[in-house]
Amino acid sequence: MAATGSEEQGGRAYYVTTPIYYVNDAPHLGHAYTTVAGDVLTRWHRQRGEKVWYLTGTDEHGQKIMRTAEANGVTPQEWADKLVDEAWRPLWDHLNIKNDDFIRTTEKRHTDRVQEFVQDLFDKDEIYKGGYEGPYCVGCEEYKLPGELLDGEGEFADLKICAIHKTPVEILKEENYFFKLSEYGPKLLAHYEANPGFIQPESARNEVVNFVKQGLQDLSISRSTFDWGVPVPWDEKHVIYVWIDALLNYATAVGYNENPAKFEETFPADVHLVGKDILRFHAIIWPAMLLAQGLPLPGKIAANGWLMVGGEKMSKSNLTGIKPQDLTSHFGVDAYRWYFLRAISFGQDGSFSWEDFSARYTSELANDYGNLASRVAAMVGKYYGGTLPETTSGGVAEQAVRDGLAKAVTEADRKIGEELDFQGGILAIFDFVKQVNGYITEQEPWKVAKDTSPDGQAALATILYTAAEALRGVAVLLNPVMPETSQKLWDSLGADAALGALADQRIQDAGTWGLLPAGTTVTKGAVLFPRLEEKPA
Ligand code: ME8
Ligand code: MG
Repeated sequence: MAATGSEEQGGRAYYVTTPIYYVNDAPHLGHAYTTVAGDVLTRWHRQRGEKVWYLTGTDEHGQKIMRTAEANGVTPQEWADKLVDEAWRPLWDHLNIKNDDFIRTTEKRHTDRVQEFVQDLFDKDEIYKGGYEGPYCVGCEEYKLPGELLDGEGEFADLKICAIHKTPVEILKEENYFFKLSEYGPKLLAHYEANPGFIQPESARNEVVNFVKQGLQDLSISRSTFDWGVPVPWDEKHVIYVWIDALLNYATAVGYNENPAKFEETFPADVHLVGKDILRFHAIIWPAMLLAQGLPLPGKIAANGWLMVGGEKMSKSNLTGIKPQDLTSHFGVDAYRWYFLRAISFGQDGSFSWEDFSARYTSELANDYGNLASRVAAMVGKYYGGTLPETTSGGVAEQAVRDGLAKAVTEADRKIGEELDFQGGILAIFDFVKQVNGYITEQEPWKVAKDTSPDGQAALATILYTAAEALRGVAVLLNPVMPETSQKLWDSLGADAALGALADQRIQDAGTWGLLPAGTTVTKGAVLFPRLEEKPA
């Protein structure tokens, strides 16, 4: 089946990024949340036939990594190598993340370009030398304003602590290089104004706008008290501030100053996915750096909310003790990919609970979706020896199913593909699954099967065809979210022989009725969502 949509194989790529994560520790549920969201978003666009570029990676410089390595008695590079190879890359493989590249900030392809970028800003008089003294949070790798700090309690009594990390800030005094960030406030505000979708959700946008309206300070972009970073090219006693280094990954990974063709077709990003903890870096500093270079600004900064534990942001120091792998070994990788996007409205905070995951798995995945797939396959097996029968044009009930699929496709495409409303899009698909279940319950094919008249037989064939064709659409729509189970369903419908690979089915066509031809071999494959074992102790 040829794609009917805009097959855009030359031309620009739909470019999506995750934050590049600090390698001071292994990934946890929070990192996986953002990365899975980006994977679903980019798989969705690939399923539309678009050219896509999905980037993730690791942030390896700075004091935080340096101190962790020291505490573990290895060099920062050894530490980073170990964490990347043993923890980060394996988790993304395990979760079926289909990133096109993985950038590490210690790679030469990155560090050379970072030096060129910063040198260029220096040559353009965007950077000057000055002094600064102020409170610094190593957890955030950020100077704080006094008003942003909290009073410590208990072991931190009499100290000022970071509102995010809840650990004391340090007073740093240094002679540094500064980027003239303060000059960019008006231009940034004009950009936010002209591009209402630039920062998502609305609450994040308001926070940034209010912050910028208060007036921006120039930004210290170098450090001279430690050396784990990219040297400032004109003054090698300094290293480049880790956030300047890190933000530039979005340019260096796609050929900035190195591969003009790649850069042209990819940069800037359509969507930078970030957690709301790092919103200001992406919505203020990064666009200002680009404005200073005359480079184009990204399409959207989308901030996800926080996965919470005990009322606090889940972090390396206050984990639930539950690793992504603990959940995937119990629920499976597909259910894991689905759960957080389904349960939490993107942009809002949410808490993980084993009970909620179990309940939704059983009712929505196993009962609604999994049972529908297995019932339909079982009935085609029982009544037609596994060969999908010819349908009649059907009546009102069948028309409602056809309309339901078309609506699910339109809604899911808008919500997931455009609005990053993953929850809304998944609900649209699962509402359709419920509708098909209701259709079968009402039509009672097991009763119709007893009517051996030609009309009765035509009715039975029509019911089963309608249900199977509906599942064909569901398999395509859920493929970006749950690729393994969609493939199982695709196989069970015998769709491959008739329609080709699942990955080649276009979202734009998914709502076209009647694509699955009669005569395919329908088999009752593996159960899509097996009953859960007892919860591990
Ligand atoms: O900030 N809930 O890296 P990082 C939701 N290296 N998302 C969470 C989360 C939670 N509890 N915890 C982490 C850095 N995340 C910098 C980024 S980018 C140029 C440099 C996710 O390892 C979320 O996306 O602290 C958050 O922004 C990111 O992990 C922070 O990862
Ligand atoms: Mg962090």
